[in-house]
Amino acid sequence: MISTAPDAGQLMALLLKLMNAKKTIEIGVFTGYSLLLAALSLPEDGKITAIDLNRENFEIGLPIIRKAGVEHKINFIESAALPVLDQLLEVPENEGAFDFAFVDADKNNYLNYHERLLKLLRVGGIVVYDNTLWGGTVAHPDESLTPEGHRAPRLHIIELNKSLAADSRIQLSQVPVGDGITICTRLC
Ligand SMILES: *[C@@H]1O[C@H](CO)[C@@H](O)[C@H](O)[C@H]1NC(C)=O
Repeated sequence: MISTAPDAGQLMALLLKLMNAKKTIEIGVFTGYSLLLAALSLPEDGKITAIDLNRENFEIGLPIIRKAGVEHKINFIESAALPVLDQLLEVPENEGAFDFAFVDADKNNYLNYHERLLKLLRVGGIVVYDNTLWGGTVAHPDESLTPEGHRAPRLHIIELNKSLAADSRIQLSQVPVGDGITICTRLC
């Protein structure tokens, strides 16, 4: 349920290769499936700042990451993401220094992450938001059809989509792979 879908992961790995990404951010790691894909897609000197509240889950996947020989590309930080992003932004050199970000964490903070990521990403950089179809519930006419536990995040995702669609700083494409990903590129 929480892991990134393989078709979405494949597409992101391809994007990373196409754009020659070197420095990336991952918000929400879980057991590290998409993190492994990203690490395999970056060059030898690539760096991923990977943030998650829980290190235990990351450690489930860590042996596989080690076996793949890509652990040195990963800086795992056990923390809520907002304070880490704010800390990064305290260093002026970090502005516009990242090529790519993948966000798959608490839906109520997606828009907060977005504001920070647009500063951290270079112009032409890409941020991908996961779960932007939220099991298809974003298309429900109202929430009565939506399972109760999914209702609050559904509203956050609808809000995110509206806000991204109106955001002139980015160009986006919502892609129905996995649980839906929204790919945004920073325009200015
Ligand atoms: C996203 O927002 C746009 C613009 O408001 C709207 O046309 C579209 O239906 C929304 N899509 C989803 C999946 O919510």
